[in-house]
Amino acid sequence: MSNVLVIGSLNFDLSMQVNRLPKIGETIHGRSIDYFIGGKGANQAVAASRIINDVSLIGCLGNDTFGEKIKKHLKNENLNINNIETVSYTFTGMASIFKTEFDNAIVVIPGANDWVSETFIDKYEEQIKNAKVLLLQLEIPISSVLHIIKIAKKYKTTVILNPAPYHDLSDEIINNVDFITPNDSEFSDLCGSHFDYSEIETQMLDWQSKHPNTQLIVTRGSQGVSFVRNNTIVTVKAFKATVVDTTGAGDTFNGILAAKISQNTTLDEAITWANAGASLSVQKFGAQTGMPTYEEVNKLIKNYEVE
Ligand code: RIB
Repeated sequence: MSNVLVIGSLNFDLSMQVNRLPKIGETIHGRSIDYFIGGKGANQAVAASRIINDVSLIGCLGNDTFGEKIKKHLKNENLNINNIETVSYTFTGMASIFKTEFDNAIVVIPGANDWVSETFIDKYEEQIKNAKVLLLQLEIPISSVLHIIKIAKKYKTTVILNPAPYHDLSDEIINNVDFITPNDSEFSDLCGSHFDYSEIETQMLDWQSKHPNTQLIVTRGSQGVSFVRNNTIVTVKAFKATVVDTTGAGDTFNGILAAKISQNTTLDEAITWANAGASLSVQKFGAQTGMPTYEEVNKLIKNYEVE
């Protein structure tokens, strides 16, 4: 039995600090490079496991030194990784992260993450059945995401879908998850070409009325996190933070949200925890490096006065 089960990606991250992004055809000098363990699946599982026990991660690695490094690293986390498989004929997922002073741009090569197929998933039906909360992202094949959601639905397992990186989603996917957690740019993609940012709250109300069984939660950076309750927008304010690196902030949010939802807390409390955790995570470099513990989030919430 897992409190939180994550089925998703594992990547090796090459994080390059640059003054700006290169133009097409141009070569520029970067400032430095760091190597981190990442992937939205692994990051979200680690974030949840720093808050609660019994978190499991299912996914695929390639048969290479990067895969070995990731496995070795995850063994030190409070995480069940017994069902991470090594695929002999492919490489581990890789992410090139270009980090400028203000934000980052990422290119992901899926590699073994594309081997999380429907046949692979079928081996883990029992784990999906026995999970309190299942947390998914979109760095594995979209057909597998739908397949997992159908299995979860059969067993009434609560599903949180973080639609990142964005991919067009069918109503069959959207309407069969319990929570969907886009950031504001992914939410604009979800709404399609008629999206108008100045009307984001009206668009949220409209979207929620069309998908009444799926709780929409939109992360809006410094604007906080908004969700719809009783046809009204509720916004949980952002915590103040000195930002060093935003990589993995969304993953921290989703991992902690899943952890708290698995404990049957109110949505307001789960979002406050997830928000506080994300604000702590951006204060250190790398996706998983800054992910806070239960004590750190608890302390921040207790001592903090949100303006
Ligand atoms: O969300 C951050 C993650 O996105 C990085 O760790 C990288 O691997 C990409 O998947």
